[in-house]
Amino acid sequence: MTFTILVTGGAGYVGSHTILEILKAGYDVVCVDNLVNSFNEEGSKMPESLKRVEELTNRSLTFYNVDLQNRDSLRAVFRKHKIDCVAHFAALKAVGESCKHPLQYYQNNINGTSILLEAMEDFGCFNFVYSSSATVYGEVQFLPIDETHPTGNCTSPYGKSKYFVEEILRDLCASSDKWSVISLRYFNPVGAHPSGKIGEDPNGVPNNLMPFIAQVAVGRLPSLKVYGSDYNTPDGTGVRDYIHIVDLAEGHVKALQKLEKSNEKGFFAYNIGTGCGFSVLDMIKAFEEASGKQINYELVPRRPGDVPTSYSDASLAAQALGWRARLGIREMCEDTWRWQRSNPHGYAKL
Ligand code: NAD
Ligand code: WQD
Repeated sequence: MTFTILVTGGAGYVGSHTILEILKAGYDVVCVDNLVNSFNEEGSKMPESLKRVEELTNRSLTFYNVDLQNRDSLRAVFRKHKIDCVAHFAALKAVGESCKHPLQYYQNNINGTSILLEAMEDFGCFNFVYSSSATVYGEVQFLPIDETHPTGNCTSPYGKSKYFVEEILRDLCASSDKWSVISLRYFNPVGAHPSGKIGEDPNGVPNNLMPFIAQVAVGRLPSLKVYGSDYNTPDGTGVRDYIHIVDLAEGHVKALQKLEKSNEKGFFAYNIGTGCGFSVLDMIKAFEEASGKQINYELVPRRPGDVPTSYSDASLAAQALGWRARLGIREMCEDTWRWQRSNPHGYAKL
């Protein structure tokens, strides 16, 4: 019988790319999303990103417009489908917004997750893949960051919500030997599916570097502000470990395969990154090369809360999951550009 994955938040950026790879790997997918951060044409039963995933894979999936905090609707999904594993992406993720509305973030990201875990327990499903973040490492104490780096010293309510959920998952695994939990700590996901049909579609002005650069290139935004040029880095701008979204999605498939095949119980956290750091100016240059467009930018003061440098040691994921990033910043920029230029306004048809 086919292994069925419940994907929460699957209409979003990471979820949609991951569903594509999960379907390609032969698993069945049931997706729940409340569409708070994903585009849905009025009257449509399926968000646009997932319609395109179905087209690209020639496979179908089941979608429910369900908020994780709506306990009854969520349980109805578990009643209707035999779920073997949950891949949990649903969360609010804007760092700045989380500082203004911390309760909304704690409510959605922590309460939502705890309602989900409760339903899983009641319906006898104990396999869980969690979308975690390098943000759980907080202030960087050593580089490259491996999984032994301390966690929890996070600066934003968003970051804390990701960390608190990891702690809940650890407690759950300590409380019973039924649970198998894999927490994937993403570094900086960027890029798009090489088809150019699905990609990142932020609401309003992007907070993150890559979608901002892409919108400057396509003429939606006039100029990029480079936050900080006086860091102790090779060119003074912030350094990050950018990871192609397709590599990241494949990491989830490896995690699901591990949960399906091995009987290992407990909590396991793995970094998902390339192990290489690139500066903001490196990314601008790579994007200019990939797109043939000039990216206007100005150097401005540092953004509060940013760390100077962050990059991973991702060797544990290679060892334990057999996963390694394959794609570099060239593919990240080329694929982002293909998506951006064929969908200048994202999924909305303007
Ligand atoms: P996204 O906003 O594109 O996708 C999240 C999806 O979850 C959206 O479609 C949204 O509608 C849905 N959602 C939110 N709250 C929900 C709820 N209560 N019930 C049902 N659906 C809900 O974000 P993304 O970039 O795809 O991120 C996915 C996950 O990866 C998040 O957990 C995020 O914290 C984590 N993550 C993202 C990044 C990144 O840079 N994109 C980095 C590290 C970790
Ligand atoms: C990258 C670099 C900025 C925008 C965030 C979250 C983190 C995780 C991933 C979810 C930095 C610089 C950016 C701009 C710029 N998300 N920058 N101008 O801050 O590393 O991580 O997304 O878990 O939690 O904090 O990513 O893309 O915002 O920034 O100069 O307009 O680009 O200063 O050096 P970040 P980012």
